[in-house]
Amino acid sequence: MPEKNFYITTPIYYPSGKPHMGHAYSSIIADVFARFKKIDGYKAYFLTGTDEHGLKIQREAKKNNKDPKKFCDELSITFKNLTKTLNLSNNDFIRTTEKRHYDSVKEIWERLEKSGDIYLGKYSGWYSVSDEAYYDEEEIIDENGSKKSKTSGSKVEWVEEESYFFKLSAWSNKLLKFYQENPKFILPVSRRNEVVNFVKKGLKDLSVSRTSFSWGIPVPSNKKHIIYVWLDALTNYISALKFPDTENKLYRDFWPADLHIIGKDILRFHAIYWPAFLLAAKIKPPKRVYGHGWILSDEKKMSKSLGNILDPLEIIKDYGVDQLRYYLIKEVSLGNDGSISLENLKNCINNDLANNFGNLCQRVFSFIDKNCDSKIPSPDKFNTRDKELSDEIIKKISDLKYMIDNQELNSYIKEVINFSFNSNKYFNDLEPWKLKKTNKVRMNTVLYCILNQIKSISILLYPIIPSSIEKIFDKLNLKKEELNIEQIKNLNLIVPGKIIKKSNILFKKIDNDN
Ligand code: MSP
Repeated sequence: MPEKNFYITTPIYYPSGKPHMGHAYSSIIADVFARFKKIDGYKAYFLTGTDEHGLKIQREAKKNNKDPKKFCDELSITFKNLTKTLNLSNNDFIRTTEKRHYDSVKEIWERLEKSGDIYLGKYSGWYSVSDEAYYDEEEIIDENGSKKSKTSGSKVEWVEEESYFFKLSAWSNKLLKFYQENPKFILPVSRRNEVVNFVKKGLKDLSVSRTSFSWGIPVPSNKKHIIYVWLDALTNYISALKFPDTENKLYRDFWPADLHIIGKDILRFHAIYWPAFLLAAKIKPPKRVYGHGWILSDEKKMSKSLGNILDPLEIIKDYGVDQLRYYLIKEVSLGNDGSISLENLKNCINNDLANNFGNLCQRVFSFIDKNCDSKIPSPDKFNTRDKELSDEIIKKISDLKYMIDNQELNSYIKEVINFSFNSNKYFNDLEPWKLKKTNKVRMNTVLYCILNQIKSISILLYPIIPSSIEKIFDKLNLKKEELNIEQIKNLNLIVPGKIIKKSNILFKKIDNDN
C-alpha cells in the first residue's frame, strides 16, 4: 500500500504581545485536522511557528528597548508554550530567524530573479505596518484625518522608496486558470469568489523589498534591501521541509501541502501571492487554503479598548483545554465569523460534554462498577437493536471522512454528538438495571454494546478533545495505537474481564454563577 501523507500548517504567529483567542482558534482547527488524519492511517505532518521579521516586530522590539532577535527569542518561547497549553500535535515549530529558513528564502528569491519575475523600481503608496500590507488608494479611508485600511481598520503610512517588484500583474490570468482547474484550492466558496473577483480586476506588481529598516532577510544580490516580510514568512511552509533540498524525504513526502489553515484577514497573501511566487519559482502550489472567520466577543471584534477580550490561557486554567477546544470547534461556524462568550462556553460544556457524552460515560462506568465488580462484561449474541446502534456509526465513516476532507467541521461534530445522544437513548430504552434482575446475559451484552459505542465515539472525538479521550481509552484498557478510525469497525476491541479503572468525573458540570 502506498504511504498516505498529509501536510497541514497554521499561520506562523507574529510574536508580539500575548497570545489571544484568534491565535488559539487557528491552531486548534489545524490540530483537529492533523489529529484526524493521524488516526486515519496518514503520515501527517503539522507545522506551526513564529513569523519574526519586519517593521512591526522591529518597532515593537524598540518600544521594549530590546534587540529584535532577543525580543523574538523571548516571545517565540511564549508561543511555543502556547502550542503545549493548547495540546497541539505539531511535528515542528519553525522560526523565521533560523538558518534553515534563510537558506530557503534566499533560494526562492534567486529563482524569482532568474525567471525574470523581479525587477528594481520605486514604490510610492500606502503601507500598513500592523498588517505588513500594501494598500491601493481605493482601499483606504480617511477617519478624522487619519488614513486607515478599509478592511482591517489599521493605520497606513505613506511609503516612497527604491524597491524590488514582483511581476504579479503578469500572473492574473495564470492564477485565474489555476483557480478554475483547482476549484477547491480556496475554501469556503465565499472566500474563493472574493479572491477570484479581486484577481479578475487585474493585479498590480507587488513591492517585495524595503530599504527603510533592517530587521529581515537581505536581498542576496543587494544587501541594502530587506525582503518583504510576507515573501519571507510564506516561505516557512517549505523551509520546514528542508527546501531547497527538494530530494529529501520530508519535501518529497509532504510538498505540496494539503492544507493551509488561515484566518480570512490573510487570505490575499495565501491565495494570491503565495501561489504566484511558487508558480514563478517553478514549485507546485499547495492543494488548499482554507480561510476561517473571525472570533468575535459578544458580536464585536475583541479589542482591549472594548474590554471584551477572552483570554485563552485564563479559560484553559478555569475550564480546561478540551473544554475550550470543543467549544470553539462546535460553536463557531468554521467559515464564518463567530461570537463567543463565557455564558455560551459554560452552556456548551454542560449540554454537550457533561450532560451528553460525559453522562453516557459516567452512567455506564458507574453501573459496571456497582453491578459487575468493575469488570468489562462478556457479551452474548448481538441482536438487531445492538447491531443498529454500532452500524449507525460504521455506515457514516466515509461521510465523516468526507466532512473532514472538506473542512465541514460543524457537520462532523453534530453527527458525533448525535451518536452519543442515541447511545444514551439505547441505555435508557434497554434498561440494564431491570435486566439485572431478569436476564443478566442480556444485561452484559447491552453493557458491552454501549462500551463499544463509547469507544467509537471516543475515537471520533479524539481530534477535538484528545486528552479526555486518552483518559477514556486508558479506563477501557485500550492502547493509544488502538485510537484509530479503523477500530470503529472492530466490535471486539474491548476485552471482557478487564477492570475499568476508576477516575474522576471527566467533564464537570459548571455552575452558571461560577
Ligand atoms: N504572521 C502572520 C501569518 C504568517 S503565515 C505565513 C499572522 N500572524 S498573527 O499572529 O497575526 O495571526 C495568526 C492567526 O491568527 C491568523 O490566522 C489570523 O487570521 C488569526 N487571528 C488573529 N485574530 C483573530 C481573531 N480575532 N479571530 C480568528 N482568527 C484571527 O497573521
